[in-house]
Amino acid sequence: MATQRAQTKTRGGDPASRPYRRQSSSSTIFSVEKERTALEALRTQSQSNQLLGWFPPSIPLNMAPQVWMVGEDGEDLKNHGELLPLSKLQEIGVLYWHLDPKKPESEEELAKIRKDRGYNYMDYLDIRPGKLANFEEKLKNFFTEHMHADEEIRYCLEGGGYFDVRDKDDKWVRIWIKEGGMIVLPAGIYHRFTLDAANHVKLMRLFLGEPVWTAHNRPQEDHPVRQEYVKRLMDDNAGLALAAH
Ligand SMILES: [Fe+2]
Repeated sequence: MATQRAQTKTRGGDPASRPYRRQSSSSTIFSVEKERTALEALRTQSQSNQLLGWFPPSIPLNMAPQVWMVGEDGEDLKNHGELLPLSKLQEIGVLYWHLDPKKPESEEELAKIRKDRGYNYMDYLDIRPGKLANFEEKLKNFFTEHMHADEEIRYCLEGGGYFDVRDKDDKWVRIWIKEGGMIVLPAGIYHRFTLDAANHVKLMRLFLGEPVWTAHNRPQEDHPVRQEYVKRLMDDNAGLALAAH
């Protein structure tokens, strides 16, 4: 961990600049039948998206987390004092809730989120020296840019940490998770994690179905889940249609 945070103090080299390009919408002419089928498919997709939370109309937010830009190595940038609006998370499909692990009503809210989103699996991850085997090595892996084929869902019960996620311009956005913060990173998003100054965090891990924790390190541009994620990011029309439901 010492190595990890030491890295955050150094200036990175040239940040990799791989901005995503907007796709121009094609002007395909549908027959009436095809158009109807397409609309039905979109409606079905929208219902499924509501269930799974792909780019919902609004992020369920209260007691919002602090969000700001960092450099390629996690270092502060010149504008590091500037906090970003939470729409920054919304546009890349990241969800956030704030619960209170000490309050019974949060149990109900957590149960509702799990029910609504199908998170039937749950376990705990205690990341701290002496508690987690191969602590330094695991932290190094957590901080290596990667994606998963499924959502990454974490509820912070103690301590804190930083989830860094790539924005639409392929820059790092840092989300500071503290006690009570619950975050869902969409499948296919590039991200990394490290601890904050507290040097420990206790997380609840949730999952839909049998858990798969496999991390696919960048680059993964041929991975179908990555391709689907990027397509959704860029597809403004679909985004508007989904938001309208
Ligand atoms: Fe991850």
